[in-house]
Amino acid sequence: MNDELILAIETSCDETSAAVVRNGRNVLSNIVSSQVESHKRFGGVVPEIASRHHVEQITIIVEEAMKEADVSFADLDAVAVTEGPGLVGALLIGVHAAKAIAFAHDLPLIGVHHIAGHIYANQLTMESFHFPAIALVVSGGHTELVYLKEHGAFEIIGETRDDAVGEAYDKVARTIGLPYPGGPHIDRLAAEGEPTISLPRAWLEPDSYDFSFSGLKSAVINTVHNYKQRNEQLPINDLAASFQASVIDVLVQKTKRAASEYEVKQIVLAGGVAANKGLRTALKDTFAECDVEVSIPPLHLCTDNAAMIGAAASLKLRTKQFSGYDLNGNPGIDL
Ligand code: KG4
Ligand code: ZN
Repeated sequence: MNDELILAIETSCDETSAAVVRNGRNVLSNIVSSQVESHKRFGGVVPEIASRHHVEQITIIVEEAMKEADVSFADLDAVAVTEGPGLVGALLIGVHAAKAIAFAHDLPLIGVHHIAGHIYANQLTMESFHFPAIALVVSGGHTELVYLKEHGAFEIIGETRDDAVGEAYDKVARTIGLPYPGGPHIDRLAAEGEPTISLPRAWLEPDSYDFSFSGLKSAVINTVHNYKQRNEQLPINDLAASFQASVIDVLVQKTKRAASEYEVKQIVLAGGVAANKGLRTALKDTFAECDVEVSIPPLHLCTDNAAMIGAAASLKLRTKQFSGYDLNGNPGIDL
C-alpha cells in the first residue's frame, strides 16, 4: 500500500487546528492555535469571537502544518474537515477552507464527525482497535458511551440527558471562582483534597447507560452557598475531590457494566475530559484485573486537534466516502 497523506482541519469550537496525518496513524504535524485567552474573561466560549479568530488563523495554521510536515499540496491524497457538531460559525470557517483547498488542488474532500475524531485519536498511539469496543466520550459538549462493533460502526448506547461532563466541570469551576476552562483546575485541586463532602450520583434507571450531571452541579452550587451563608471557609480542595469522585464513579461504573454486557475487548477513552488524571487512573485501575484493554490518548490528543480528524478520515478515504462541494457546517449532525 502506498502511503496516504491527509491534510485535516478542525475548527468546531475555540481551537483552530490543522494537521498532516500519514496512513491514519502517523502525525507529521498537528498545529493547534487556542483562543482560550480571548474567551476567558467571558467565562466560556463566545461563538462570534470564535468565528473571527478562526478566520484570522486558518490560512496561517494550514501553512504551518504543511511546512512542519514538509509536504506540498501535490503530495496529499485528501483534505478532511470537521463538519459537526460544534458552533456553526466556527465550523463554517474550517469547511470553507477545506473546500477551497480541495477545489484548488483537485483533491477528495472528507467531512468528519467531531466525536469520531475524538474516538480515532486513539488510533494515533495504539497498535490497533480491538473490536468490539466501547468508547467513553467525555468532552465539553458530549458525554456518550459508544459501542463500536467494527471500524466506523458507531452505536450510541448512552448519553447525557442534561449537561455534558466538561460543561459540569466548567460550571462548577466558575462557581468556586476558578478560570475558564475549569476542568484542569478542578482536576489539580482534587488531587490535593479528600472526597469528604457527600454529593449525589445520578445512576438513573438500573439498565440505563445515560448520564445526568445537572443535579450534581446544583448540589455543588448549594454547598458553596451554604458555606458562604455560614461565613465559613470553603474547603475548596475537598469540594473539588468530592465532585470529581462523584463524576468518575458514575462514568467508570457505567463503562464497566457496558463492557461486560457487550463483551468488549477494548475500552477507548476520548474527548477533552479524557485529560483528567483522576479519570485516567480510575479507568486503568478498574480494568487492570479484566481481560479488557484500555486505550487512553496522551493529553495533547485528548483536547480538540486536527490530527484526530485525519485519523478518522483515513477510514473514509479507504472506503471512498467523499463529500461534495455542497458540504456544510452541521451543528446537529448524528454520529
Ligand atoms: O474535547 P474538548 O477539547 O472540546 C469539546 O469538544 O468540547 O473538551 C473541552 C472540555 C472542557 O470542558 C474542559 O474543562 C475539559 O474538556 N477538560 C477537563 C480537563 N482538561 C480539559 N476536564 C476535567 N479534567 C481535565 N484535566
Ligand atoms: Zn472536542
